[in-house]
Amino acid sequence: FGSIPLELIEGLRSSRHVVVFTGAGVSAESGVPTFRDALTGLWARYDPLALATPEAFQQDPDLVWGWYEWRRLRTLQASPNPAHHAIAELARRVPRLTLITQNVDDLHERAGCQDVLHLHGSLHHPRCFNCAAAFNGLLETTNEPPVEKRQSPPCCPICSGPVRPGVVWFGEALPEKAMHEAFAAASECDLLLSVGTSGAVYPAALIPSLAWQGGALVAHINPQPSSLHSVREYNLTGFAGEVLPALLDAVF
Ligand code: APR
Repeated sequence: FGSIPLELIEGLRSSRHVVVFTGAGVSAESGVPTFRDALTGLWARYDPLALATPEAFQQDPDLVWGWYEWRRLRTLQASPNPAHHAIAELARRVPRLTLITQNVDDLHERAGCQDVLHLHGSLHHPRCFNCAAAFNGLLETTNEPPVEKRQSPPCCPICSGPVRPGVVWFGEALPEKAMHEAFAAASECDLLLSVGTSGAVYPAALIPSLAWQGGALVAHINPQPSSLHSVREYNLTGFAGEVLPALLDAVF
């Protein structure tokens, strides 16, 4: 990915509030599939309208619940990669770091990050489709290989409604508190690292522009360079698991 611009290195050294904004690409080197990568991306192989909408769940709860359980168990068997660890290390080195993720895995948490803002929810916090009560009855450990199969969702112990994945589906509102805190942090930070996101899904995709409109430096870490709209934006073109450790080495 070539040399790291001096402005970014100095920006990180002098920053008082860094925002890290991640997408599926930060978990790619952990073996967790992205959505839009050609061939390997989930939406290259599955129809999001058949799996990632409330209507799809009402239409065929066993198909949707089984598919998300397959993803959740795969995540349980994955491990944080050097990108997740570098972000946790950065959080220990700067005065303030806000981590915003579009991801529904818990790899940032397992790398030691806290107070992660999950704009699209989490695979690890299912809730009742009807009464929204949190459901805590899922197995958190598994050693058999996750198999894609139809599976009936558990029943809510409170209202016996079907339990649904705790993720934000297409057409659903983002969690209000997480979105408010994320937008506020992006608008007032002095440096934002956007890691492993295609910028295809709104309103999350507004986050980097909120940062540079607020005067922050913005760096996109992605094997595919992003189109840049501001003199304060940079591309660090490469894999997050390589770029982020190298960035920390250059800065600290
Ligand atoms: N390091 C960094 N970036 C990577 C890596 C890697 N090792 N591998 C892939 N990428 C990049 C891809 O080039 C792509 O730009 O990660 C990005 C992944 O993009 P998407 O698959 O679209 O994932 P994301 O941007 O997180 O999607 C946003 O779409 O379907 C919804 O809710 C879902 O949160 C998701 C949202």
